[in-house]
Amino acid sequence: MKKIDRETVQRILDTAEIVDVVSDYVNLKRRGSSYLGLCPFHNERTPSFSVSKAKNICKCFSCGKGGSPVNFVMEIEQISYSEALRYLAKKYNIEIKEHEMSDEERERESERASLFAVNEFALSHFESNLYDTADGRDIGLSYFYDRGLTDASIKKFHLGYAMEQSDDLLRAATSKGYNVKYLVDTGLCIRTEQGRVYDRFKGRVIFPVFSVSGKVIAFGGRTLKKDMAKYVNSPESLIYHKSNQLYGMYQAKPSIVKHDKCILVEGYMDVISMSQSGVENVVASSGTSLTEGQIRMIHRFTENVTVIYDGDAAGIKASLRGIDMLLGEGLNIKVLLLPDGDDPDSFSRKHTSSELEQYIRDNEIDFIQFKTNILLQGVENDPIARSKVIADIVRSIAVIPEPVTRNIYIKECSRRLEIDERIVSSEVNKQVKALAEKAAEKRLKKAGNESIEELSQQETADSEKEDEARREKDIETALRNAETISGTGRFLRPYEKGLLRYVLRYGMLDLCDSIDEQGNTVPVKVIDYIAEELKIDDLTFTNPDIILAFNEAIKASRESWSSDCARNDSDLMERRSRYIAEGEAKLRETETDIATIERKEKLIVESADAKFQEGKDNFAMLYIEKALSSHPDDTIRNITLELVADKHVLSKVHTKYAHVETDEERLGELVPRAIFEYKDAILECRIRKLHDDLKRVASSPDADPEEIRALMEAHVQLQRLRGEFAKYLGERIINPRK
Ligand code: UTP
Ligand code: MN
Repeated sequence: MKKIDRETVQRILDTAEIVDVVSDYVNLKRRGSSYLGLCPFHNERTPSFSVSKAKNICKCFSCGKGGSPVNFVMEIEQISYSEALRYLAKKYNIEIKEHEMSDEERERESERASLFAVNEFALSHFESNLYDTADGRDIGLSYFYDRGLTDASIKKFHLGYAMEQSDDLLRAATSKGYNVKYLVDTGLCIRTEQGRVYDRFKGRVIFPVFSVSGKVIAFGGRTLKKDMAKYVNSPESLIYHKSNQLYGMYQAKPSIVKHDKCILVEGYMDVISMSQSGVENVVASSGTSLTEGQIRMIHRFTENVTVIYDGDAAGIKASLRGIDMLLGEGLNIKVLLLPDGDDPDSFSRKHTSSELEQYIRDNEIDFIQFKTNILLQGVENDPIARSKVIADIVRSIAVIPEPVTRNIYIKECSRRLEIDERIVSSEVNKQVKALAEKAAEKRLKKAGNESIEELSQQETADSEKEDEARREKDIETALRNAETISGTGRFLRPYEKGLLRYVLRYGMLDLCDSIDEQGNTVPVKVIDYIAEELKIDDLTFTNPDIILAFNEAIKASRESWSSDCARNDSDLMERRSRYIAEGEAKLRETETDIATIERKEKLIVESADAKFQEGKDNFAMLYIEKALSSHPDDTIRNITLELVADKHVLSKVHTKYAHVETDEERLGELVPRAIFEYKDAILECRIRKLHDDLKRVASSPDADPEEIRALMEAHVQLQRLRGEFAKYLGERIINPRK
């Protein structure tokens, strides 16, 4: 892949809006100054994924993942930095200038991008077959029309047709320069053992499968003949994991959010027909039982799921277990049974959209109630069978994570099952406990496996036992060494983080004045003050990630700041003049009295100046953190995100223009104090080390009295220095360390 030039990168970073980018994947709700949603990176039931529009970053306060728009895209799509930039460029229609690719370059293009590209090509090929070829129209399109689909639905779901010839797609794709390898890797083509390559989809109508964000990841092809497997589907590939996808999710997403509800059906045709009837919040599990990944995807957009059943009693019973999983995720499940012989597709074709909606509203029932009814059918008078049913219902209730919800069900079911509420309750509680223990065991086992895996990468040896003993020792030593090496780093880490935090958040703000050699007063920025303070005492940070980020910040402040700032200033200047000009023009229209005009003119200029200053301050304040939070280096981005994104600060920034004293206003006090505390901590480290040395030297039999005295003197001196520090810091050190 070609490198994207710096200017374009900057344009992408400047354009990408975090709320916008995240919303493609997560249903966000406004909470004060930020947005909140369910974290897409881990399973959760209460939202802890926070998005800050002002800072243009997101972060999960539970699992810690998130970052700038680029970061988010990298993480969620599992792609590289430059792939993420390309993704964003595409999203915002930013052109990346690239040469016509040579064969060699095409080869080098990243695998995933190539797979997507081939799929994209196949999608448009199948679509144009449907309308632009005779067979497509006569066979494919007329089939869709026969099934009642409109052109709008066909376009919305990008349905297509694969020609009868077994090399139609293969030829078309290769003639456009697509590599056969990717046709085979996506499963669009099949390579025989003899090496012959042919199309997987032949003479079938095509249902493309899209990812949540709208990329074609797979295809389903339905035969129009009698004696064949009804559907042929794309195999698993680098870009398609069937168990994590739901058919129709991309198209259904807005409607699911709008209605705060997701309807789950079985087949491609069910989704499309219902959607055409105006019920658009429908997705399909594609004929298999639900997986955890699919449930999690639904949960990102809503908590309410209605499962539509068309099957017979046996089929329904078989699928009940899958639904227990939905309950376990904390979703509210309802069930809808269709009249005998109907599936969602046929049913929605027979009814108007308002009838369909009405039917759903009137007939969906609570899942546990539904399950109880189904299981109790025919066993009302058989005590043994009945007790089995009760045990089964109890298990369903026990997986519900919310105690309050559990209790509601306990009440209701004991009434329906005609058993004492206390008995049901105690059975449920037993199950809850058993489930918790099982989960703990599983976690433990998993943790065990992971560490075994790590170890097993190390090496092999003669006898197993010997090997193990040595390994244990190695680890012990390694740990001890790590302890002494990083002991100081770990002790100083909070202080170093504290300083870096000031650099990131306020680095380009003026902290105080200093006098230069010509006797002029010059403002000193926070970042320069901190750098200077470190230099005076010949200090460098000890934590590698902090060193990296600090150096990058310094670089940004010295290399790109002045030109970026000048550009921003001239923008602001222009805006200021325009503001004044517009204000004055209006004045002249509305006022006639010279004195009033003059007075009001002054006010306009004042307010223009204030706006100018505010724009300048904002730019300065966000400059460093913006540069670092979308830096190509993972380490730098991670530490930046950690320091910039905590809850506490988001609310502080929110109050920036309210009359609360913020960190920003107290920088003159806070930053010097942080420096002193850091230096004090370093002194403490040195004193401790001297102390240890002293002890060691003094306890050795042939101790050198000279050495001891020198050490003691150094010790005394450091102590005195610390004393002076303490005096300087005065009463401001409220909590002594440790
Ligand atoms: P259905 O048989 O209900 O399919 O299977 P359908 O989409 O309603 O198709 P029509 O109405 O007969 O045209 C449900 C889903 O199971 C998967 C498909 O995803 C289908 O949509 N399936 C079914 C297969 O993958 N392969 C098959 O052979 C059959
Ligand atoms: Mn069907």
